[in-house]
Amino acid sequence: MSPTRYPRVMQALHWLTVLAVVLLFPVGYVMARIEFGSPLKTPLFRLHAFLGYAVLIMTVLRLYYKFRAPQPAPPAEVRGARLALYRLVHALLYVGLLLMGLSGPSVFLQSGVGLSPWVDPGALNFKVPAAALHVNFKYALLALIGVHIVGVVSYQVAKGDVLSRMGLGRGR
Ligand code: HEM
Ligand code: HEM
Repeated sequence: MSPTRYPRVMQALHWLTVLAVVLLFPVGYVMARIEFGSPLKTPLFRLHAFLGYAVLIMTVLRLYYKFRAPQPAPPAEVRGARLALYRLVHALLYVGLLLMGLSGPSVFLQSGVGLSPWVDPGALNFKVPAAALHVNFKYALLALIGVHIVGVVSYQVAKGDVLSRMGLGRGR
């Protein structure tokens, strides 16, 4: 029989990723817009790189456990077209996290500054292709997260408990 919840380690990685992504968006938005010379510019870039690397590592770990540890079957009542959408959105969320987590460091590499998060933003070239990918793909990731949250909340309200599968609450 398949388990009724995700493994604890995957639950922890899910919520730590949510926390990091919730910080990455405003930090990324602000750091890219405040002027060079502001005392906040460099610390925000370094915080962003640090959190972004953390998301990248956590995503790789989640995928490792996904294929290594027994996974719960899809929630009851998720069938047909809804099941296809459920699978697609989950897969694309992983792809989105990987693409954002890899395109960020690619900006560093294409700018020739190495991979260290202790970066000097003045040395970065924001016209490299990876920067365009990183800056534009954020919309796709945001849209996926939006669809994901609507799916989870609507299931929780209308169909039954799904949050306990990710460690929130004891289930009903
Ligand atoms: C999943 C992880 C990540 C997310 C969700 C994310 C998100 C963002 C967002 C929302 C922006 C602001 C874009 C804008 O509106 O101008 C941004 C910019 C940026 N991020 Fe990330 N980021 C992630 C990982 C990383 C990593 C790991 C690095 C580097 C180690 C990085 C480096 C950068 C750089 C250099 C910019 C400025 C790009 C530009 O202005 O052209 N990011 N990121
Ligand atoms: C940054 C935002 C988020 C990202 C990137 C994200 C990502 C993911 C991914 C990739 C999965 C699939 C896990 C797997 O099957 O391996 C998942 C599942 C799940 N997420 Fe999120 N999530 C986010 C926000 C949230 C929020 C805010 C909630 C709660 C409202 C939530 C609740 C859940 C639940 C309950 C599941 C398990 C669904 C099931 O039963 O299969 N997530 N999430």
